Amino acid sequence: MTVSPPDPAPRSDSAHPDTTPMISLESVDKSFGDLHVLKHIDLQVSRGQVVVVLGPSGSGKSTLCRTINRLEAIDSGTIRIDGDLLPEEGRPLAALRAEVGMVFQSFNLFAHKTILDNVTLAPIKVRGQSKAKAQARAIELLERVGIADQKDKFPSQLSGGQQQRVAIARALAMDPKVMLFDEPTSALDPEMVNEVLDVMVSLAKEGMTMLVVTHEMGFARKAADRVIFMADGAIVEDSDPESFFTAPKSDRAKDFLGKILGH
Ligand SMILES: Nc1ncnc2c1ncn2[C@@H]1O[C@H](COP(=O)(O)OP(=O)(O)OP(=O)(O)O)[C@@H](O)[C@H]1O
Ligand SMILES: [Mg+2]
Repeated sequence: MTVSPPDPAPRSDSAHPDTTPMISLESVDKSFGDLHVLKHIDLQVSRGQVVVVLGPSGSGKSTLCRTINRLEAIDSGTIRIDGDLLPEEGRPLAALRAEVGMVFQSFNLFAHKTILDNVTLAPIKVRGQSKAKAQARAIELLERVGIADQKDKFPSQLSGGQQQRVAIARALAMDPKVMLFDEPTSALDPEMVNEVLDVMVSLAKEGMTMLVVTHEMGFARKAADRVIFMADGAIVEDSDPESFFTAPKSDRAKDFLGKILGH
């Protein structure tokens, strides 16, 4: 008698089981010349997890983000997104970039395109969507981030907070599996920080897998499942936010928290 194996866990949107980490780095090393910027990084982020990355300037936070969507190549180790190795180049790399949305400190919108065109460009060019479909989805996303009424303006006509919300909508238009944020609010005037953080908190609640470099402790406390503290290219602490903020273990983290919370 033959016994058939049990059915694999049902999946709606992925070829991989739910237990596959959404982001996985194993023994990742990266140097710029003599400068060893990422030192043997091991990091697994599970589906739907929100990870805040903290650390002093120059500790490698931006480089970590940039390697995850291959804006920077790594020297050794492996990086997988939803179980798939990062492709080196060509169309597979373009497809991977579409799955990993990234939002930077500087909003990086196309200055000579309208807000609507900024959001529809990649879905049309990379995903081959029709203009009508891409526009309908873009308007939905712009409504979600609260700026649909600005869709026909150009980026320079928007406030920094509005531009950053467009940048988030633009990344979401590709239906990414993962969103990376590198200090998304640090170029903003203080009164605009919360309108961007609110969008990020709601994304987190909806189950997006997120890696967020930020010094916004309120966001870390409210939305993060996990805090990673980096120093000198290594992950020095990896814990839940409450433990990290109330009982950091390393001297580096204590020193860092003293500086950012001390004033
Ligand atoms: N393209 C590059 N070429 C040479 N060195 C680089 C390059 N990018 C980053 N570095 C160096 O790598 C180190 C880590 O930089 P990274 O930008 O990742 O730090 P960070 O933690 O994001 O710092 P910050 O908080 O200031 O943004 C720094 O010493 C930086 O000068
Ligand atoms: Mg940085």
